[in-house]
Amino acid sequence: MDPVGSRAAEDSLRWVSKRSNTSSRARDTDWDGVRLHVVTGKGGTGKTTVAGALALALAAGGGQVLLVEVEGRQGIAQLFDCPPLPYQERKVAVAPDGGDVYALAVDAEQALTEYLEMFYNLKRAGMALTRLGVVDFVTAIAPGLRDVILTGKVSEAVRRRDKQGGFVYDAVVMDAPPTGRIARFLNVNTEVAGLAKVGPVRNHADTVMRVIRNPETAVHFVTLLEEMPVQETLDGIHDLTAAGLPVGGVVINMERSPVLPAADLTAAQECRLDLDEITRGVKAAGLEHDADQITRMLAAEAVEHARRTALQAREKERLSAIAPPRYTLPLLSDGIDLAGLYDLAEALHEQGAA
Ligand SMILES: Nc1ncnc2c1ncn2[C@@H]1O[C@H](COP(=O)(O)OP(=O)(O)O)[C@@H](O)[C@H]1O
Ligand SMILES: [Mg+2]
Repeated sequence: MDPVGSRAAEDSLRWVSKRSNTSSRARDTDWDGVRLHVVTGKGGTGKTTVAGALALALAAGGGQVLLVEVEGRQGIAQLFDCPPLPYQERKVAVAPDGGDVYALAVDAEQALTEYLEMFYNLKRAGMALTRLGVVDFVTAIAPGLRDVILTGKVSEAVRRRDKQGGFVYDAVVMDAPPTGRIARFLNVNTEVAGLAKVGPVRNHADTVMRVIRNPETAVHFVTLLEEMPVQETLDGIHDLTAAGLPVGGVVINMERSPVLPAADLTAAQECRLDLDEITRGVKAAGLEHDADQITRMLAAEAVEHARRTALQAREKERLSAIAPPRYTLPLLSDGIDLAGLYDLAEALHEQGAA
């Protein structure tokens, strides 16, 4: 087994021992029946991380899951701590109880070349086009075409069957473009409507749209409990709904747990902290020297912490008004390593997301 796989397997053992039903893939989740999970969110909210955790959670118990990125950032390779992904499906992790996560970084240029080959038998033309930079030209004059090629690659993986007629992948997770662009990105039908009324591009777009509008697809939003990402999430849900695209769940990422009791938070917010008491604590901790300065710094931090906690609560309240299921993932103070990723996957599983 490769090093990534064996480390992942060790991590998975921790999890398997905690899971009660490890022998069967029978599930009872909020998304049973969904096979294409599209993960969007404002940049930096943890889209790639959550997509990775979701893929692990979905693979748990023996599933075969493909995790796809479409923006050429090699975020998945970084997340799973492996070398940059080629334009080829490749196993990146072993999930709890024997499932596998495969990953693919779709490169727009290669996908377009592949597409030209497939539909127009233009292998050599495609290669020449690539060299001439005509791909850039095509995607610049017809941005919808670029999107339909990318989503097309993903929908092909969703539909792919093995020799026995079963699906090759139980689920496909797409690390998708950010919230501001997601409705356009997925709504390829309208994107190419002006471009192609008939012919292979049209047929291709229609097939992609059938997959995306299918009840087997769900678009999940990742957000932080901050004003802008929450607003983008609410707007994104609105846009998708208006476009008739399937809204999935909302993943609240990087929630900070309060480190002070409620009464102290209120006091900090109202600048009513008992500074003398803090100073006594500082001195009791053996910091006699500079106790006053340390007290001032601690008090300022407490005020900031109280402000952020209140903001979190306010944004959570705004999200409580929406219909889609919500899941909450903690801010991992050590950042995201492989073990942390498995913890997030477990949290998603426990909350019914997978
Ligand atoms: N729950 C979390 N706890 C701690 N750090 C996180 C968490 N989720 C994401 N991160 C970190 O936040 C940064 C952005 O995450 P990433 O998944 O790359 O976001 P995006 O794909 O939305 O740009 C990364 O450094 C990642 O490790
Ligand atoms: Mg990313």
